[in-house]
Amino acid sequence: MRSFLIELARLAGRIALEHYRTTGVKDVTVKGRGDYVTHVDRRIEEALAHRIRTNYPDHRVLGEETHAEWPAEVAGPCWIIDPIDGTTNYLRGIPQWAVSICYCDDHAVPRHAAVYDPVKKELFLAERDAGSWLNEDRIYVSDCTAPAQALTVSALPFRRQDALADVAQVMVALQAKCDDFRRGGSAALDLAYVAAGRIDAYWELGIQPWDVAGGELLVREAGGVATDFRGRREGLLGRRSILAAATAPLHAALAAEVAPLHRWLDHEPYVKVG
Ligand code: IPD
Repeated sequence: MRSFLIELARLAGRIALEHYRTTGVKDVTVKGRGDYVTHVDRRIEEALAHRIRTNYPDHRVLGEETHAEWPAEVAGPCWIIDPIDGTTNYLRGIPQWAVSICYCDDHAVPRHAAVYDPVKKELFLAERDAGSWLNEDRIYVSDCTAPAQALTVSALPFRRQDALADVAQVMVALQAKCDDFRRGGSAALDLAYVAAGRIDAYWELGIQPWDVAGGELLVREAGGVATDFRGRREGLLGRRSILAAATAPLHAALAAEVAPLHRWLDHEPYVKVG
């Protein structure tokens, strides 16, 4: 399974690179504010779905671009694909985007994950109960336990402007308590960087399962903690918030900080759809 996953990640990376820098904001379909789909996303998703169905006819393929057809519950093996995570960066030639592929066994439990950044040639892999890797090397989260030493990554919401002020308030509070803050623009890479110990924590309101399916496994298998804002590890298909941290004490401290945002998890598009 691992070698097939690597083959899929490299295939997706090749297609993405072929069109990188020649595909811009003018070539997209706008799904919503700051929410784009490109012909490249569609092409990658189709290519991966074809390879998976040829090899595993009974496996389900759940892709970002076909998420309207996702079932509420999945029984049996499935693949969760984000063809290009960080589409805005991709379209603007900012080299911070990745392909994310996650293989799940029965009931959407992640088993294998790949997050591939073809520009930097960084392939992050994870296998449940076995570990996480960057290319050939094992990776581990940092040993950061306190916000004061933490470099965090997050994002302001762009799908619902009415949550903006609340998220900004949490962000300001955290900036005062933490070492510093970044906005990466690719949830999959943000999580991969937590797994690799490059950053200490990542939190975001309003992500989707395909953004984080692979990255969550990377963080956990590298020794970190990845849940939703309420601390739930399970329920990946309903994921609308993410809080990943290098250590349990850091996760607990940040969970308390994002608690005022729980109320948004009952609103569209933060609430589970389907
Ligand atoms: C987006 C990126 C971004 C995050 C958004 C996601 P997409 O994914 O992961 O970092 O802030 O919430 O939607 O749309 O480029 O696949």
